[in-house]
Amino acid sequence: MNPYLVERLRPFGTTIFAEMSALAVETGAINLGQGFPDTDGPEVVKQAAIDAIDAGHNQYPPGIGIPELRRAIRAHQQRFYGLDFDADTEILVTAGATEAIAAALLALCGPGDEVVTFEPYYDSYAACIAMSGATRRVVTLRAPDYSFDPDELRAAVTPQTKLILLNTPHNPTGKVFSRAELTTIAELAQERDLLVVTDEVYEHLVYEGEHVPMATLPGMRERTVTIGSGGKTFSFTGWKVGWVCASPALVTAVKTTKQFLTYVSSGPFQYAIAVGLELPDAYFTGFRAEMLDKRDRLCAGLADAGFDVLRPQGTYFATVDIRSFGETNGLAFCRSLPHRCGVVAVPSVVFYDDVAAGAPLVRFACCKRTEVLDEACTRLKGLAK
Ligand SMILES: Cc1ncc(COP(=O)(O)O)c(C=O)c1O
Repeated sequence: MNPYLVERLRPFGTTIFAEMSALAVETGAINLGQGFPDTDGPEVVKQAAIDAIDAGHNQYPPGIGIPELRRAIRAHQQRFYGLDFDADTEILVTAGATEAIAAALLALCGPGDEVVTFEPYYDSYAACIAMSGATRRVVTLRAPDYSFDPDELRAAVTPQTKLILLNTPHNPTGKVFSRAELTTIAELAQERDLLVVTDEVYEHLVYEGEHVPMATLPGMRERTVTIGSGGKTFSFTGWKVGWVCASPALVTAVKTTKQFLTYVSSGPFQYAIAVGLELPDAYFTGFRAEMLDKRDRLCAGLADAGFDVLRPQGTYFATVDIRSFGETNGLAFCRSLPHRCGVVAVPSVVFYDDVAAGAPLVRFACCKRTEVLDEACTRLKGLAK
């Protein structure tokens, strides 16, 4: 245990992604652990970043983000969901969704407050809740369909609950929350006067069902903080351009913490993501179709290798249950996998408080070139049963 680290952050050591990516480098294994594409996004978006650098957009951008990007975010929310956010008072550009999550939690909750979230959860949620000093209460999404028990959700909300932290489409499960499920959450939020912070970074990666933004549900526009990011949608995860859309009072609260985290970031990339958000519908449908093909390829390969595949409805990820291999410990399995067959995956247990629920599950990323996915599946097929 690190003696310097403050107590509330002690449970958060090196992330599993760092450990597994290091293992991939060390063993030369194919890395299907971390969720980043192995090809660049659209040429026109890349060129827009180069042009922005050449044009001298290299100093601090405005604290709330450049107007071109805020207008593009506004137009995107209108085009896809009919949501209307004011580009000057209701949109804030952040250093990726990661900063948006941190800034929102630090702004909206603190010691004595509780945050309800679903497990498995994206790993930064638990760390940011801890940094805020609030307490996390989790509701388990249960495999194979990853539904939740509304009574369990209701029971998780106490008089101390400040907000519900939601993620749809959901990492790591690939679940896309249905309109009915979101309505259950929305009605509870209104009944108990809670905010909802919703992480929708995979909004354009829905293969089955539809993406329903929480802010579109009746009564939710004013109590929802919507978080988006250009990283996944445009396959430039290293650029870290994210955003928050919410009412002026909520955006002002989040801006107050955000300004002391990074102040600003990603100057020239903000211009480029603005260009991306304005691409015609054909880009977004083409991107989805390309990723759907990768999902299907990976899921078929994993099934062929003998795994029980929990087919994702969206996102970059597919999950398998290793009990079909006669194994139960996903962490040990992932640590041995690069040595056994030259593939890296992530043990889903790191996303759970309920260790038993997550122990046999392992997550693979499908956002890689098809030849890489095929080679990984061939290697997995050679895994001794
Ligand atoms: C659910 C979820 N939220 C947020 C992020 C981080 O997004 P960004 O790269 O924009 O910070 C990720 C990245 O993997 C994610 O999966």
